[in-house]
Amino acid sequence: MVKNLSPRDPEIVSDWEVLKKINRLKPQERSFSILGFFVVTVFGVLCCCFYLDYRVVAGLFRHGGLLQKLQWTGFDVSGGDERVGFLEIGGERCDLFNGEWVWDERYPLYQSKDCRFLDEGFRCSENGRPDSNYSNWRWQPKSCNLPRFDAKEMLEKLRNRRLVFVGDSIGRNQWESLLCLLSSAIPNEDSIYEVNGNPITKHNGFLAIKFRDFNCTVEYYRAPFLVLQSRAPAIVPRKVKMTLKLDQMDWSSAKWKDADVIVLNTGHWWNFEKTIRGGCYFQEGEEVKFNMSVENAYRRSIMTLIDWIGREVNMSKTQIFFRTYAPVHFRSGDWRNGGSCHLETQPELGSSLLPSQSSYQFSIVGDILQLHPNKSLVMGLDVLNVTHMTSQRKDGHLSLYYLGPKAGPAPLHRQDCSHWCLPGVPDVWNELLYALFLKREFARTQNATVSTQKT
Ligand SMILES: *[C@@H]1O[C@H](CO)[C@@H](O)[C@H](O)[C@H]1NC(C)=O
Ligand SMILES: *[C@@H]1O[C@H](CO)[C@@H](O)[C@H](O)[C@H]1NC(C)=O
Ligand SMILES: *[C@@H]1O[C@H](CO)[C@@H](O)[C@H](O)[C@H]1NC(C)=O
Ligand SMILES: *[C@@H]1O[C@H](CO)[C@@H](O)[C@H](O)[C@H]1NC(C)=O
Ligand SMILES: *[C@@H]1O[C@H](CO)[C@@H](O)[C@H](O)[C@H]1NC(C)=O
Ligand SMILES: *[C@@H]1O[C@H](CO)[C@@H](O)[C@H](O)[C@H]1NC(C)=O
Ligand SMILES: *[C@@H]1O[C@H](CO)[C@@H](O)[C@H](O)[C@H]1NC(C)=O
Repeated sequence: MVKNLSPRDPEIVSDWEVLKKINRLKPQERSFSILGFFVVTVFGVLCCCFYLDYRVVAGLFRHGGLLQKLQWTGFDVSGGDERVGFLEIGGERCDLFNGEWVWDERYPLYQSKDCRFLDEGFRCSENGRPDSNYSNWRWQPKSCNLPRFDAKEMLEKLRNRRLVFVGDSIGRNQWESLLCLLSSAIPNEDSIYEVNGNPITKHNGFLAIKFRDFNCTVEYYRAPFLVLQSRAPAIVPRKVKMTLKLDQMDWSSAKWKDADVIVLNTGHWWNFEKTIRGGCYFQEGEEVKFNMSVENAYRRSIMTLIDWIGREVNMSKTQIFFRTYAPVHFRSGDWRNGGSCHLETQPELGSSLLPSQSSYQFSIVGDILQLHPNKSLVMGLDVLNVTHMTSQRKDGHLSLYYLGPKAGPAPLHRQDCSHWCLPGVPDVWNELLYALFLKREFARTQNATVSTQKT
């Protein structure tokens, strides 16, 4: 991982590219840029005095060079936005999840008809949804700007690596969004394919898309509870058809624990309907826990997950994200009895639509992380805390447009107010994922540079 930096290193050369670019600017812009460059240079020289080590300075320059290439989503300086970039000095303390939705005609970042990796069910505009405003909102953190999503940059950082999504179908929603965002920068269609030749549908529990030119895969594993669901023990009452083993991870975990980036989510299946009502009870050790509430079972499963990460995942290699619960927006009912989000075309700006009941869905992960005794483990995880921001987006769901164009819209009484149209809200989660991913990557490469001093 340690890079041997020589003046021929392309990343150092890129700093000189910056100087060359400065020369092409208008005189007034040029004087600002040159001033900026010399401030950085003086800073670098000062650091040199402190460390007396060429490599540290080179590392800083390299960082600077990369930042020069990044674009920020906020308005530029002439627009009067004084927010710092999230990855710039001063941006590191910014809470990305505290902010607001901003109308921005530069969005969406792709069109569904240009993306081969979308399930038919997520292609709202192709399935007849007439309004499109829901795809024009970006997220603006209060005290910094997000880096604008750069697919090539992300793929370059994923070279020879694996990124996996693990969770329920909302995780698949987000996985497909990321595939569209990444593939939009790759003109050669044949270079991106499912490794087993499988079609992308909800009927597959495992799918892996390879970006050949980068030797990287972006994978999806279906594991809606994250813990193991399996046959009931031999001697139990007839009503027990299956159990969720709250102390064991899903069987697929062996396949993804060594991935380089893992994006986990769970929540939508932790309710009475999808567990006990269907004969799926909770189990710890050999014992079926007939009295355990769904909430406690969910809590136990998250503790199992965190302990398992601490035991089984090499956190110096693997970046782990936990995406928090994405709220549903059924008005007066749920998906079976006429709950509705149809004709919602505007977000609920400025307020949170989180319902007060069943609030455990929204807080369990945060609570457990806060109380966990191993702080270094918790600090190593990134929480994609999308719950509050997403609660404002009642306009972003599939509603009637989850059936293909030939089928026509779904019956009015069967609306999908859980999944999201694409392009749409999950793209924004992935922009946040991108920002946090780059941040850890920068930290890693800086540490690698510093560690060469010690040897
Ligand atoms: C879409 O947004 C634009 C700009 O905010 C607004 O003028 C228009 O009325 C919106 N359309 C709908 C259908 O909400
Ligand atoms: C391709 O990536 C995989 C990990 O995803 C790695 O094991 C393998 O060595 C890489 N191949 C090359 C040629 O670098
Ligand atoms: C479990 O539930 C049964 C019947 O509802 C009750 O009699 C029993 O005391 C409960 N056990 C525990 C440990 O709460
Ligand atoms: C805390 O987690 C770290 C990183 O996963 C692990 O190396 C360490 O052993 C854990 N510490 C304790 C006290 O369990
Ligand atoms: C963890 O990953 C790091 C970085 O890839 C590697 O150097 C180290 O050997 C790994 N540790 C274990 C125990 O596999
Ligand atoms: C997520 O954000 C909300 C609102 O900003 C905050 O109340 C909550 O504690 C955060 N949760 C986590 C796990 O960071
Ligand atoms: C980088 O090094 C610092 C200080 O040694 C440490 O706290 C931090 O966890 C390291 N970051 C990574 C990503 O290894």
